[in-house]
Amino acid sequence: MNDQSFGLTEDRREFRPIHISGFAREANDFYPTPDWVTQTLLNHVRLRGPVWEPCCGDGAIAKVIERQGLAVHATDLADRGYGQGGVDFLTTERVPAGCQAIVTNPPYGDGGAERGAPASSRLLLSFVKHAISLTEQCDGQLALLVRFTWMAGQRASSLMSAGPLDRVIVLTKRIRWFDMGDATKQGQHHHAWLFFDAQRDRAQPPAIVFG
Ligand SMILES: C[S@@+](CC[C@H](N)C(=O)[O-])C[C@H]1O[C@@H](n2cnc3c(N)ncnc32)[C@H](O)[C@@H]1O
Repeated sequence: MNDQSFGLTEDRREFRPIHISGFAREANDFYPTPDWVTQTLLNHVRLRGPVWEPCCGDGAIAKVIERQGLAVHATDLADRGYGQGGVDFLTTERVPAGCQAIVTNPPYGDGGAERGAPASSRLLLSFVKHAISLTEQCDGQLALLVRFTWMAGQRASSLMSAGPLDRVIVLTKRIRWFDMGDATKQGQHHHAWLFFDAQRDRAQPPAIVFG
């Protein structure tokens, strides 16, 4: 990722495509979620009880949910000074005792769209598949923040359709992942929360709402 030329010749580099962020990808895809993104989720769904944030990072999502009055069990593969580090979500076998919902912004694992990676990374598909399975197992709820276009992929859509997808909350404002004051660039992707509920009425189709 150090080579920022993206195959462009020297004289064309100043005309970089707009989707090149200019930032190197963070280790383990660590991108803290701005508060408004989590608040939008909470404005549209009612979480039934304690929440597990399994990719908690520095607690960006967890803190907003806690402020709403819900207990949050926070874990992450890395130790970022918040919650419990060293927990690989993909190897977990059940949700922590008492938790009734999983809420997270998972690692997309695609090296970034700027590298021309496939639309659906295997890592993200594995995450979603495992998260749906744990949610069904505990009869709980699941909210995952993904890029809006991700859900249109064949593998992603099959996976979502097989799970108890309750609603898609589309964020009409694009997320700025880095706050660099006036130099902050507009985010390049639209995102959406995928909300699953194992207790939903499966005869009803999922809803789409805009937040
Ligand atoms: C996009 S960041 C999101 C952090 C936090 N959820 C937020 O929204 O602010 C993804 C996080 O997933 C963690 N992560 C990556 N692979 C993981 C795994 N296999 N198990 C648990 N956490 C993982 C990374 O360390 C990183 O903190």
